[in-house]
Amino acid sequence: MARRRRVYEGKAKVLFEGPEPGTLIQYFKDDATAFNRQKHAVITGKGVLNNRISEYLMLKLGEIGIPTHFIRRLNMREQLIREVEIIPIEVVVRNYAAGSFSKRFRMEEGTLLPRSIVEYYYKSDELGDPMVTEEHITAFGWATYQEIDEILNMSLRINDFLCGLFTGVGLKLIDFKVEFGRLWDENDEMRIVLADELSPDNMRVWDSRTNQRYDKDLFRHDLGNLQEGYAEIARRLGILPEAGPRDLKGPETLQ
Ligand code: TMP
Ligand code: ASP
Repeated sequence: MARRRRVYEGKAKVLFEGPEPGTLIQYFKDDATAFNRQKHAVITGKGVLNNRISEYLMLKLGEIGIPTHFIRRLNMREQLIREVEIIPIEVVVRNYAAGSFSKRFRMEEGTLLPRSIVEYYYKSDELGDPMVTEEHITAFGWATYQEIDEILNMSLRINDFLCGLFTGVGLKLIDFKVEFGRLWDENDEMRIVLADELSPDNMRVWDSRTNQRYDKDLFRHDLGNLQEGYAEIARRLGILPEAGPRDLKGPETLQ
């Protein structure tokens, strides 16, 4: 890696200063953590797959009019993004019960929910990302009611689009987490854009027929090989890096 200024290091990514003001380079590490770093491993190839999957999903969402921080992928592990002010809220959208939701409501994993349910968590490793409501978000000044409204609408549109995309390739989107940021243009107008990443680190994706898991739960609960799971998602989406740029196909539609 060339010498450049490290702006931020998280659990799975590093942010470096970008080539122009207002840009950053997002580097995807191979580190996998769970339960707020209690579990940690380095899984060769994870960063490459997440970089590619996140690029693909952000570009697809851009095409349907969801503004994102993504500019372009630079190489196997890095992408150029716009620098945004991250809103410290993790937005989780759930279509089926799983994970902490299943525990909280004693609902079997995989149970279809009556409708998509959106939850907010305050981004704080120190506090263990507590669940919060609009009351906390507005009272503590993390976002305004108007911003929450926009975030909620965008999250539901993202969910609708991703559900359709995954269904088309024989996958079921159980739930996912997204983050948003504030971006100012030349006229000092602010807009909210999708930020961070959209990868199997932040979503649960099961096979539609067999309920085989292909996401980070493989690692969280020692259920199987994480790298193979992520590669299967990439393969279904038609973007497996090993295929080489000339062989890249679109998603394979299943009946
Ligand atoms: P949960 O069931 O553990 O609350 O997770 C809900 C979704 O959010 C799941 O797709 C995994 C994702 N997630 C993250 O991206 N980061 C986190 O720190 C946690 C706890 C969950
Ligand atoms: N991302 C969180 C961690 O690193 C939790 C998780 O994804 O399970 O601990």
